[in-house]
Amino acid sequence: MSRKIIVLDTTLRDGEQVPGAKLNVQQKMEVAQQLKRLNVDIIEAGFPASSAGDFQAVREIARTVGDSVSITALARAVKSDIDAVYESVKIAQNPLIHIVLGTSNIHVEKKFNRSKDAVMQMGVDAVKYAKTLLPNVQYSTEDASRSDFEYLWRTIEAVVKAGATMINVPDTVGFAVPEEFGDLIRRINERLKNLNENVVLSVHCHNDLGLATANTLSAIKNGAEKVECTINGLGERAGNASLEEVVMGIKVRESHYNCYTDIRTQEIMRTSRLVSHMTGLDVQVNKAITGENAFAHSSGIHQDGLLKDKRVYEILSPEEVGAESMELILTARSGRHAFKNAVEKMGFEAGEGEDFEALFQKFLTLADAKKEVYDHDVFYLVTNHRTIDQSDKQLFELESFQVVSNDRHPTATVSLKKGSEIVTDSAVGDGPIDALYSVIKSLVGLDVELKDYKINSLSRGKEAIGRVNIRIEHQGKMYSGRAMDTDIIKASALAFLNGVNAALLDVVHA
Ligand code: KIV
Ligand code: ZN
Repeated sequence: MSRKIIVLDTTLRDGEQVPGAKLNVQQKMEVAQQLKRLNVDIIEAGFPASSAGDFQAVREIARTVGDSVSITALARAVKSDIDAVYESVKIAQNPLIHIVLGTSNIHVEKKFNRSKDAVMQMGVDAVKYAKTLLPNVQYSTEDASRSDFEYLWRTIEAVVKAGATMINVPDTVGFAVPEEFGDLIRRINERLKNLNENVVLSVHCHNDLGLATANTLSAIKNGAEKVECTINGLGERAGNASLEEVVMGIKVRESHYNCYTDIRTQEIMRTSRLVSHMTGLDVQVNKAITGENAFAHSSGIHQDGLLKDKRVYEILSPEEVGAESMELILTARSGRHAFKNAVEKMGFEAGEGEDFEALFQKFLTLADAKKEVYDHDVFYLVTNHRTIDQSDKQLFELESFQVVSNDRHPTATVSLKKGSEIVTDSAVGDGPIDALYSVIKSLVGLDVELKDYKINSLSRGKEAIGRVNIRIEHQGKMYSGRAMDTDIIKASALAFLNGVNAALLDVVHA
């Protein structure tokens, strides 16, 4: 009989740990809403003990989508972390506490400097404490794939006896290979089912050797009942197992894996685009399932075969993952219904009443100016509306700018608006962008360092649009900002300000 595989999405926890991918509370909620539409079983919404902002985001997600999706968050094996998880997820219908503690020799010796038995006892105590708060507790044996098997098993046995309801086996550093990882899961599964057949066996794979999806699928073949993944494979270093690859692997090869997930696969592309837009991290063009070229056939032989029968070269159709007709073209005549539909198609909540009306009026202004409004325009309209207009914090807006480029003294003069205050200044730089960023830096009064600046052209519509992506560092943290405009200098200024605003929002919530 076909088994159901539980899908936990950890884009908002492991994925958000990527430098520069930091999302604010509003953005996390937008992603969580889309994960709900995607129909994931569990959302890992964050690491609430890490900051007040993360705590608030997890709590808001539990409050808004926790009615139908199980919500969890990460805790180290310490009481204060477990309390933070409990307080932030408890409002959800089906809350889960996730505890992580290392089991490999290197973790036990170097991270904790305690005996193996003492570390195991920490885990047992943590589970016992978590069980006084909630019935569902997941225990992750961090760095499991590099752990001594008998110690790993003793730990699993002890925490299951203490009440853990899910055991998660992570390949934390992406060291495993499919045959070996599958074997590890098979051995754990055999013993676990003898110990307590109701405990769920889960896996969490990282992609350091490019094997995260393969290892996850191998684990499924060998008995894993739950997988932990991220959208676009985001995550620490080379990332995590990508949700879209694991889910479509199971679906396309159902007869091989003999299992299924409840993921609404038609929502995959929308979710991928939303996460990419929000984090500012592009999806590699040839990325399986969600890359721009994933369904593009260029060779003449392939095109000829496809015209005869799609199945000649296509193992899954773009429609199955929602990749067809993603582009929307709206005009000032499109009307409220079409606009609302466009906003929702991008994975956003359109809002209601006055909020929606204010957004719609901005759309009309834009449509009057641009004539054709594309989905990237809709994206910026909605995100700016949500971050600037609805933030309780005053953020920076670009009021006006003038940049003079020459080979002697490139100069920029910029006026920024913050609330009702307008500030203006000028600066000289090595080039026009350097001058622009120097003056913005002095106007915002934050000690930010530009780490990365990228400009691409987008050739949709009648205008040539420049898309600018920047990453800045502020107080040791990375923030990203993106903007598009027909004027690349303006796009550069807006992207920088978006990065600065992201840093400001983070400080507010921290
Ligand atoms: O990679 C890892 O080990 C983790 C755990 C918290 C599951 O992210
Ligand atoms: Zn991880």
